[in-house]
Amino acid sequence: QYAQKDGFRFFMEKEIYEQSDVVSDCMLGRVNDNTTSFDEIDDSILEGINEIKICACGTSYHAGITSSYLFERLSKIKCNVEIASEFRYKQPLLTKDTLFIVISQSGETADTLEVLKMAKNAGLKTLVICNVDNSSMTRLADYTILTRAGIEKGVASTKAFSTQTVVLWMLALYFANIKNSICEDTMQKELTALREVPKALTIDDKIHEKTRRLSKRYLHGHGFFFIGRDVFYPLALEGALKLKEISYLHAEGYPSGEMKHGPIALADPELFTIALMPENLLYEKVKSNVEELSARDSTICSISPLDFELSDDFIKIKKTNHYMLEFFEMLVVLQLLSMEISIRLGNDVDMPRNLAKSVTVE
Ligand code: G6P
Repeated sequence: QYAQKDGFRFFMEKEIYEQSDVVSDCMLGRVNDNTTSFDEIDDSILEGINEIKICACGTSYHAGITSSYLFERLSKIKCNVEIASEFRYKQPLLTKDTLFIVISQSGETADTLEVLKMAKNAGLKTLVICNVDNSSMTRLADYTILTRAGIEKGVASTKAFSTQTVVLWMLALYFANIKNSICEDTMQKELTALREVPKALTIDDKIHEKTRRLSKRYLHGHGFFFIGRDVFYPLALEGALKLKEISYLHAEGYPSGEMKHGPIALADPELFTIALMPENLLYEKVKSNVEELSARDSTICSISPLDFELSDDFIKIKKTNHYMLEFFEMLVVLQLLSMEISIRLGNDVDMPRNLAKSVTVE
């Protein structure tokens, strides 16, 4: 089912469009009336655990950063995230009150596999969030949660990321339920929002068309800054990574509040700012960061459910009542935008130069 392009121009395009369905699969049987649950784990997973450490590479690392906001906000468990290739040589302190989570589409990335081994050898409880059953990581970790995204062929990861993020969000709620760290009302709101993720990932033709039209204005210039706050910061990192991977244009993801500490010096009309402006989270804060960039003549493309008059370009997403739904709406826009830019530049979207789907050597 996943091996053909089915009329799409590229596997990446097909996989972007598949996200709504695979996320539904990923949630099947895992979202219940009052909480989330996983057949693969039980409540004892949190026994003796005081913190969570996440390690991953590439796009999976971005899903990890996103989830660190959710683990702290919802589960009230201290959580930090590190790049696996950094972690493995820093002589990290590994303590047994840490739940060690690795995230990997393939389950084979050499650096991530190595840190998993380190954590196992140090006697930590280990969990892998993975898309490939019976991969090296799933064989090694104490617990596995599968993302059920189906085979991902595009080198630039799309549906693996959305399913990883949903699994991690469900996991944060599962932990919140065990620890009783959020009230029932909040839990219900989270579950309602979760159920709407497939809808948020459904692609509106008008939005795709808009990214196609806009793409021709963003082929040159001296670089892109993708900016956002909170979970929209790792989303900005992911948006920038997608663009780099397949368009070979220079792009950086940045926390919008940090722009004034250096990057704003680059602002001029040839600097493209892609601003992630969710209505439901820190809107005014991001807005004032974007205003500062606009005042310094950066070209602004904002993605938001709210009109923003200072934008040179504007991609309007649906109004929702949860920031994670805005997150998924924006994710699709970012994926489509980088794909359309790459297509216009004549690149091979599915096989970008210099990159491999899975990096199994150090
Ligand atoms: C490679 C791929 C990326 C991926 C990263 C981590 O660099 O090109 O798309 O995010 O590896 O892969 P993993 O399989 O561990 O998620």
